[in-house]
Amino acid sequence: MKQAIKIKNNLYYIGVSDANIRTFDIIMKTANGTTYNAYLLKTHEGVIIFDTVKEEFEEEFFAKIESLCSYEEIKYIIMHHLEPDHSGALPTLASRAKSAKIFISPMARPMLKSIAKQEDLELENVWTNKELHFGGKTIRFLSTPNLHWPETMSSYLVEDKILFSGDVFGSHYYDPRLFDDLVGDFDYAFKYYYDHIMRPFKSDVLNALRLYEKAPIDIICNLHGPIIRENPQKYIDKYAKWSSRDDRLHGKKIISIFYVTSYKNTKDMAHAIYDGVESQTNLIANIYDLTALDEGNMLTILEESTGVLIGSPTINGDVPKPVWDLLSCMMLLEKKGKVGGCFGSYGWSGEAVDMMNGRLKHLKFRVPLAPKKIKLIPTKEELYECFAFGVEFGEIVNGKMIEMTME
Ligand code: FEO
Repeated sequence: MKQAIKIKNNLYYIGVSDANIRTFDIIMKTANGTTYNAYLLKTHEGVIIFDTVKEEFEEEFFAKIESLCSYEEIKYIIMHHLEPDHSGALPTLASRAKSAKIFISPMARPMLKSIAKQEDLELENVWTNKELHFGGKTIRFLSTPNLHWPETMSSYLVEDKILFSGDVFGSHYYDPRLFDDLVGDFDYAFKYYYDHIMRPFKSDVLNALRLYEKAPIDIICNLHGPIIRENPQKYIDKYAKWSSRDDRLHGKKIISIFYVTSYKNTKDMAHAIYDGVESQTNLIANIYDLTALDEGNMLTILEESTGVLIGSPTINGDVPKPVWDLLSCMMLLEKKGKVGGCFGSYGWSGEAVDMMNGRLKHLKFRVPLAPKKIKLIPTKEELYECFAFGVEFGEIVNGKMIEMTME
């Protein structure tokens, strides 16, 4: 892929491959490497560039541009996403294509100033349905925030029915054959990418799909992995399915209670809370001993839970590892609308409950109740307090408003 590749009419691939990368963004394994996709559209009035590449690969990127046009011909640069794997070559491109205007989303403007370190960039903000008419082509901009940064956007080349989707529909999967109908089986990489990048933003994915479905799509030009041209709808449908909520419970809400226990005290609290939740209508309570729960299943359970309660004793002034595993997998969870709470028995200092509570708050769970702490073995009265804690938590998940405690 050392040369620019024609995609359709006067649209070219000018991206680069990073075949040897094995970990992306710290959290993703990339057995097949990845690509940083970018595109160039030639028109009779000039050239439009769609995104750039990671800085260390910019030489190849510029060689491809130079094989197709001069820098003076570049009139517009469209930046769908500013993460450095796509904006790394932008400062150099902007300094060479001096007359080019850069289209970005409003959220991207302050970020771009920090990335490009150039005060004199000519920027224009764009949003849904704003259009660029240029050289006989129409580029329609689409606001698709949080996929997966706040500033992300997409665009649509009307005459050729091509969607530029940003990171959406991407895969970390390098194959020099480039197009989905020519490369090897990248289904695993497509799903893995969704799970790690898009899954925490499912409602934003659905908002984007509603915009995408307004026009026919022949080709999806994404920012990573194979360009999708054989059956774009198949991949759109996958995103729709993975991002939709399964309403098998017909509107009932799930409250999941996770606990670990040393001497059964926190377990007894968990079961009393469970009984309290279960006494409420329209709720389904589930209870899990975290020491026997596979990490791979935690996220699935959390996703279907509107309420999440976590119980732990304090061991050596800390929270035990199975609880941290649960709390850390929430990085991949859409937290919007979720209610959290914490409880635990303790012997001496009892920091664990406050640590868990703080983590839920930082993750933007709604945490309406003060954590429930009980010293050592819960008495009958204290177990009744746990039951009442479960009742109140259930009422809140069901919509009861309470005054939030100030800390
Ligand atoms: Fe491919 Fe979010 O950068």
